[in-house]
Amino acid sequence: MDFINKLKLNPVQKKSISKINEKISDIFPHDLYEHTISTLLYSEKLACNYILEDNNTYNDNFHTGQTTYYKLCMAVLLHDYGKIFDFEKLKKIVLENKDKINAVQEDFEINSILHGFAGAFIARDEFNIGDEEVLNSIMYHTTGYCNMSITDKIIYVSDKIEGRRNYKEVYYLRELSLKNINLCLLEVYKNNIIYIIKNNKNIYSNTFNIWNNICKLYGGLTYGSRR
Ligand SMILES: [Fe+2]
Ligand SMILES: [Fe+2]
Repeated sequence: MDFINKLKLNPVQKKSISKINEKISDIFPHDLYEHTISTLLYSEKLACNYILEDNNTYNDNFHTGQTTYYKLCMAVLLHDYGKIFDFEKLKKIVLENKDKINAVQEDFEINSILHGFAGAFIARDEFNIGDEEVLNSIMYHTTGYCNMSITDKIIYVSDKIEGRRNYKEVYYLRELSLKNINLCLLEVYKNNIIYIIKNNKNIYSNTFNIWNNICKLYGGLTYGSRR
């Protein structure tokens, strides 16, 4: 797998990512697999800017960006794993685990967020993933949360602006993502709220707390500042 070889991971990490990739490439519908890989490639671009910094090639000197980047790759490959299961199965899983999810009962009727909530538990069991950060990244990739980590900002943004996405604002958002991930998060989150309301869809109960948090942290930033 050419794209896995190019990831800035050590050989053991590459092997583990390769195993996940083999499984999802076998079972994902074509479009979902293409979206997943495109999200991975976009998130890698952002990781080079915001996680790996100048140290963006792997070497044997351990640095924390490396582990964060590995977790990011794992979470991105599995972020939409829940999408291959039907609504009833996803709902059953979230109801069984509702005490572990930051949501209210009504949220469990929102189809578009269930695949993230349930997907985390399915990925934990099917891929033997015990890392809470990776599982949280999967769980909240569609909703976000207050004070998001840099990894989760990258996943949230990459999912919405990866190279296969095609909508009016996407070119501006891609440009912004490389200059200021926080401002980009603000704009992408705003777009998402507008989309939900325009299309008369139900909204996740915590969305306005998250929006207020993003506004408070980044609403006063200007285009020129990097983070
Ligand atoms: Fe998703
Ligand atoms: Fe996605």
